Amino acid sequence: MDFKLGKGGEVKIILVFKGTESIEEVDELYQYLKNKGLFKGNAGEVYANVTNTDKALLLGLGEEDKLTLDSLRKAFFNAGKELAKLKIESVDIEVPELKNICYLDGIQAIAEGLLQSEYSFEKYLSKKKVILSIKEVNLNVIDGKREQSIEAIEEVKNIIDGVFLARDLVNEPAMTMTPKTLANNAKKELEKLGVKVEIYGREKIEDLGMKAFLAVSQGSSQEPQLIVMDYKGNPESIEKLALVGKGLTFDSGGYCLKPANGMETMFSDMAGAASVIGAMKAIAKSKVKKNVVAIVAACENLISGAAYKPGDIIESMSGKTIEVLNTDAEGRLTLADALWYAVKNLNASKVVDIATLTGACIIALGNVNTGAVTNNEEFMKNIKKASHITGEPIWELPNNDEYRELIKGTFADLKNTGGRGAGAITAGLFLEEFVDNTPWIHLDIAGTSYLSKKQGYLPKGATGIPVKTLYYLAKEF
Ligand code: BES
Ligand code: MN
Ligand code: ZN
Repeated sequence: MDFKLGKGGEVKIILVFKGTESIEEVDELYQYLKNKGLFKGNAGEVYANVTNTDKALLLGLGEEDKLTLDSLRKAFFNAGKELAKLKIESVDIEVPELKNICYLDGIQAIAEGLLQSEYSFEKYLSKKKVILSIKEVNLNVIDGKREQSIEAIEEVKNIIDGVFLARDLVNEPAMTMTPKTLANNAKKELEKLGVKVEIYGREKIEDLGMKAFLAVSQGSSQEPQLIVMDYKGNPESIEKLALVGKGLTFDSGGYCLKPANGMETMFSDMAGAASVIGAMKAIAKSKVKKNVVAIVAACENLISGAAYKPGDIIESMSGKTIEVLNTDAEGRLTLADALWYAVKNLNASKVVDIATLTGACIIALGNVNTGAVTNNEEFMKNIKKASHITGEPIWELPNNDEYRELIKGTFADLKNTGGRGAGAITAGLFLEEFVDNTPWIHLDIAGTSYLSKKQGYLPKGATGIPVKTLYYLAKEF
């Protein structure tokens, strides 16, 4: 899909708010549809008239006062899908000034919606669904915004590249997306953009003393991989944001084995890792002027004669000891060492971890909000602002001291589960033990990174959440 400034497309997309009296260019059609109740201008409603000579697609935006960036994205996603179905190759869009939305944000939302409509994961289908997507989008922008519009579109293309990369990595089954494949993909995608990518195998991980990470990995014949991706967009500054992604390329639960239906999609337990790789791609492509480092401790959680067991007492890189009550609470063990490495070895000034950490988070928030835990409310405000722009909602969970009691160990410093109640919170607070007061946010994406059915412009399967939010957080704060 190419974006250009100007006109000349086959079909014109006409934006219609609910309650619009008349539309000059296609009024006869509009009045007819309105009177018959065939087109009301509801948010996301599409009516394509492409058979005659004045080809037009009416796109409903709902009530003008209620328009948001996300409803704009959804509307243009629907338009993109419809146009692809009709095999339309080029379109014209006149981008108006919209109430409550800054011009460039609006352009980005329009472009994003169209780009989102192009995603599919078809590499394993023997018969591809041949749906052609729009080749050319002509944007007619207001005077004085041409240059900035071009930049804004370039940026949104880079962000969506990152989102699609994250989706592709997650949708790939565990048989091919092993820790080594994940590492190789990070290298392949990021090195060409000037990101330094280092990959460490078992020996180096042992030297570093990442015993919690190693314990999780020891039941698998796939070698664990520590992936460190370093982007320096502002070499003068000592500020450095660390993005730490959970990278379980498969989670069987270990000896606390998951039931079959709980294991079905556990190839997606590396969605946190995929999101940090995707975010790094977007950040490096757009040459964000900040320093960002991404860390992934990638491994599989399986059973074998060598696997770790309930009751084991393991050490972590930090020196804190952990009782393993449940081998299925493995993500926090890998992240404990990855977070410690980020704050101690890499001197991160702020850190965000992104993890498909708990089923409890899905029970609490479903598939709509990402759950969050923090030790720094200012930092949390910033990520919430970013998520508001991107349409990837985040809901902060409480962190009272009483919850911290639940993860204190009996025979070791900590235990790896805090019981059934408040499972998403205790999991987050377990991680807090390994950031040593560095401003930190934990994002639990168990419910939002992978969907069993499509939701707006998010497809069934991997969503790429929260690549967009991580990008804005890195760029703006
Ligand atoms: N990867 C899972 C969490 C998960 C569940 C992600 C469903 C996506 C969909 C995680 O490793 C896990 O198994 N968590 C346990 C923790 C419990 C044993 C304390 C859970 O949520 O049941
Ligand atoms: Mn698990
Ligand atoms: Zn897991």
